[in-house]
Amino acid sequence: MSIINESYVLANGIEVPKLGFGTWKIPGGDPAYVTAKDALAAGYRNFDTAKKYANESSIGKAIKESSIDRKDVFISSKLPPEVMTYDEVFEEFDRTVENLQTDYLDLYLLQAPWPWNDSGNIHDRDNMIVWKAFEELYETGKVKAIGVANFGILDLENIIKDAKVQPMVNQIRYFIGFDQEKVRDFCTDNNILVEAYSPLATGHLIEHPVIEEIAHKYGVTPAQLAIRYCLQHGTLPLPKAVGKDHIVENTQVDFAIEPEDMKRLEDLPGTDPDEKIVE
Ligand SMILES: NC(=O)c1ccc[n+]([C@@H]2O[C@H](COP(=O)([O-])OP(=O)(O)OC[C@H]3O[C@@H](n4cnc5c(N)ncnc54)[C@H](OP(=O)(O)O)[C@@H]3O)[C@@H](O)[C@H]2O)c1
Repeated sequence: MSIINESYVLANGIEVPKLGFGTWKIPGGDPAYVTAKDALAAGYRNFDTAKKYANESSIGKAIKESSIDRKDVFISSKLPPEVMTYDEVFEEFDRTVENLQTDYLDLYLLQAPWPWNDSGNIHDRDNMIVWKAFEELYETGKVKAIGVANFGILDLENIIKDAKVQPMVNQIRYFIGFDQEKVRDFCTDNNILVEAYSPLATGHLIEHPVIEEIAHKYGVTPAQLAIRYCLQHGTLPLPKAVGKDHIVENTQVDFAIEPEDMKRLEDLPGTDPDEKIVE
């Protein structure tokens, strides 16, 4: 079986296709509509969006107009990070579902443990309140799974200690040379699936000389190597692409990176554009 048809199983038994399609920075309207159609045609059945991306309605339209059954497409969206009150969660969720022209979401994520303008600061109490609302949404059946994004270990522990329903997913920045091992291992130990966002480091990995060299060895492209790397760590990559060539190329990841090459990639410095490490 090909990766595009394989699934992970979440803690509550829900299946989620192993390869997702990222949609950040794809403008709403025709660009997101056409790209989502191309992604569906290429075989993607897992779409990651967010209210903040302002493209939910175009993605929803492409899915609705396709001949694919709603139950065969996994749709994730996210609560905007500045929403920190109980009532607003329900309002935001209803808007998201309406935008996506669907009756339910497959996965709803709390986009960050802090509002963007207070990034890195502690909002434990707010997160607990929001999580209560998430649990209620889950219990109504309007969302099949709930989770978080950008959560560190302390943020997760804060939620887990009182939760009736544990987070099933943590979506974090994850790519070659930027493994976030501690939070990844914490998630694995707690049966939380890690979704790897920015698996191509928002495009920065593509021209890395070591990645090019190792990709060449396997007869694949750097993007394919980077996506496969995430899968071999048991994470769910969410590559974003526009244009059919990239969209299709990123589905062709049915090969295996050997352990010694995985080790080289794990130890690779200089892949994180924000850390400015030079090899
Ligand atoms: N939860 C969060 O806070 C959060 C934050 C960031 C991202 N995300 C999610 O993760 C997704 C992916 O992250 P990302 O958007 O940062 O970017 P990414 O997937 O790491 O990289 C996308 C970039 O790589 C290029 N690319 C894609 N396929 C390629 C290929 N085969 N060959 C060469 N270049 C290729 C794309 O170009 P083209 O577009 O021209 O194809 C684009 O410039 C997002 O779209 C979003 O769904 C979540």
